[in-house]
Amino acid sequence: MSNSPVKVAVTGAAGQIGYSLLFRIASGALLGPDTPVQLRLLEIEPALKALEGVVMELDDCAFPTLAGVEIGSDPNVIFDGANLALLVGARPRTKGMERGDLLSANGAIFTGQGKALNDHAADDIRIGVTGNPANTNALIAMSNAPDIPRERFSALTRLDHNRAISQLATKLGVPVTEITKMTIWGNHSATQYPDLFHAEVGGRNAAEAVGDQEWLENTFIPTVAKRGAAIIEARGASSAASAASATIDAARDWLKGSAQGDWISMAVASDGSYDVPEGLISSFPVTTKNGEWEIVQGLEIDDFSRGKIDASVKELQEERDAVKDLGLI
Ligand code: NAD
Ligand code: LMR
Repeated sequence: MSNSPVKVAVTGAAGQIGYSLLFRIASGALLGPDTPVQLRLLEIEPALKALEGVVMELDDCAFPTLAGVEIGSDPNVIFDGANLALLVGARPRTKGMERGDLLSANGAIFTGQGKALNDHAADDIRIGVTGNPANTNALIAMSNAPDIPRERFSALTRLDHNRAISQLATKLGVPVTEITKMTIWGNHSATQYPDLFHAEVGGRNAAEAVGDQEWLENTFIPTVAKRGAAIIEARGASSAASAASATIDAARDWLKGSAQGDWISMAVASDGSYDVPEGLISSFPVTTKNGEWEIVQGLEIDDFSRGKIDASVKELQEERDAVKDLGLI
């Protein structure tokens, strides 16, 4: 390993997701066995002691790819020179809360972090937002970082994408590797639209392979869209290991490229594709290469899909208006 370390900043590093995410990044699951990684971990002051314990555990793993760890509570210091920032730190919702309830609680975190990234991150910075409400938090960070190109911001809908693949594979009794071209459209919320009309199973159209519109509408879509709430109900805490795994999948594919002949779901700043208003951070089917993403063009959207996409985009517009009113963008 002769490369200089890639600086990966993670916020909320002492939290549940952090506890799973950091060890996977440090072990090479994100950038491979030949790329050393320096972790730069941000927490609020009261959580720094717990974070010190996590760092002791990272040390104890003796990961060959871990080239150092910095911790602190000042984003201006922690984001200094960062090549990748994974913004996880935010309060998770608890039983009975909707994501909208988190807008004011968490939105303010992302103004300061957007500014700090703007002023201190490396020129090649890429920013992935996992903390909820992820799409709108990414919008807030992006709006507060005018010098960073918009294409460098994304929000996590890869967990929804992975959930959709798993549900479909189970329904059809096929391995997950048979499923390609899954798409999550819209918001990482209960309004999201997991789309089987463009997905494929062993090369065959997934909606046709299922052949059951009732299941698609009344089981598949709500199961995927409300999976986060189901996990909170069952575990008493929001998803963590699966969220960390999806955060890795999303960042890895962004930096290293999506698989040939397939696409992934990423929430990115709309360029107006599929009539999603420009600038909203909405989930699309994208392909990635060399750290760049491109929205898959030319998919035919029927009336059913149009209605679902529009409903989720409407929610994103309402969230944008709410954070505008709060003075966050
Ligand atoms: P957690 O409460 O266990 O950890 C969050 C951590 O963030 C805490 O340690 C807290 O101290 C820290 N934090 C709070 N404010 C901060 C700030 N200003 N700077 C740095 N750190 C800060 O929560 P978790 O379970 O790890 O979840 C984190 C977030 O991820 C939540 O908002 C949750 O809803 C979200 N989430 C998103 C997805 C997704 O698919 N997009 C999936 C699961 C969870
Ligand atoms: C999830 O999808 O598991 C997370 O976003 C947690 C939540 O609040 O649903």
